[in-house]
Amino acid sequence: MSAAAPLAVEGLSAGYGATEIVEGASFAVPAGGRLAVLGRNGVGKTTLLAALMGLARRQAGRILLDGRDIAGLATPERARLGLGYVPQTRDVFRSLTVEENLIAGLKDRPRAALDEAYAMFPRLGERRRQTASLLSGGEQQMLSTARTVLGRPRVLLLDEPLEGLAPVICDELMAALHRLTESGSMTILLVEQQIERAFDFAPETIVMDRGRIVWSGPTAALRGDRDAVERHLGVGSFR
Ligand SMILES: Nc1ncnc2c1ncn2[C@@H]1O[C@H](COP(=O)(O)OP(=O)(O)OP(=O)(O)O)[C@@H](O)[C@H]1O
Ligand SMILES: [Mg+2]
Repeated sequence: MSAAAPLAVEGLSAGYGATEIVEGASFAVPAGGRLAVLGRNGVGKTTLLAALMGLARRQAGRILLDGRDIAGLATPERARLGLGYVPQTRDVFRSLTVEENLIAGLKDRPRAALDEAYAMFPRLGERRRQTASLLSGGEQQMLSTARTVLGRPRVLLLDEPLEGLAPVICDELMAALHRLTESGSMTILLVEQQIERAFDFAPETIVMDRGRIVWSGPTAALRGDRDAVERHLGVGSFR
């Protein structure tokens, strides 16, 4: 029998209060897998990630982390079991310094692991004593991402991590995330509006429209299907 996928979602419906936003989502990501979650604005990508993390209300379905259904667990418990989340809203402790923010992300890893964050984003090393509220938007994005990655989650949920970052930093971040998945110890779900970068990063893609998964499969197949790209992602998605 093969090992359970790090993340498997079965018939997940979720939303806010009684409002259903995500409807019947099913997919799985293998160990070391990289999955892009694409779609126009407002189709439910953030709600899907929030539901996985326990921050949006699940109305039906199962969320399996290494084969265990976590759908009934509170958010901190999901984090403890290995789900990492970098929200679209750049989650930093504004009154703490860069380094203090990163230390909060270490969990039980040694302090020396901070160097991994500074290698990923040298800019954070230069600003390690700076209060997070004084960072630029792009720097806060780096800090939010680095803090979560430092905790070495089994499954990392990234909601538009490239927003506000300069192109060269985007390249470096994508390469660093790619390396993290290569050993098979981390699995990544990437929500991204930069379609070409998401295509380059993820071998598998799901596309959402109005709360439903309307396309899923190998990224190469979607990339080669200009009609599907235009239908689901909108004309002009390609740079
Ligand atoms: N806290 C909330 N309460 C009620 N409705 C919400 C809430 N957050 C989002 N929604 C609604 O859920 C729908 C999907 O929003 P969501 O943020 O998941 O979309 P998205 O695909 O991430 O969009 P974007 O690409 O703009 O980030 C939208 O219609 C939005 O208005
Ligand atoms: Mg969103």
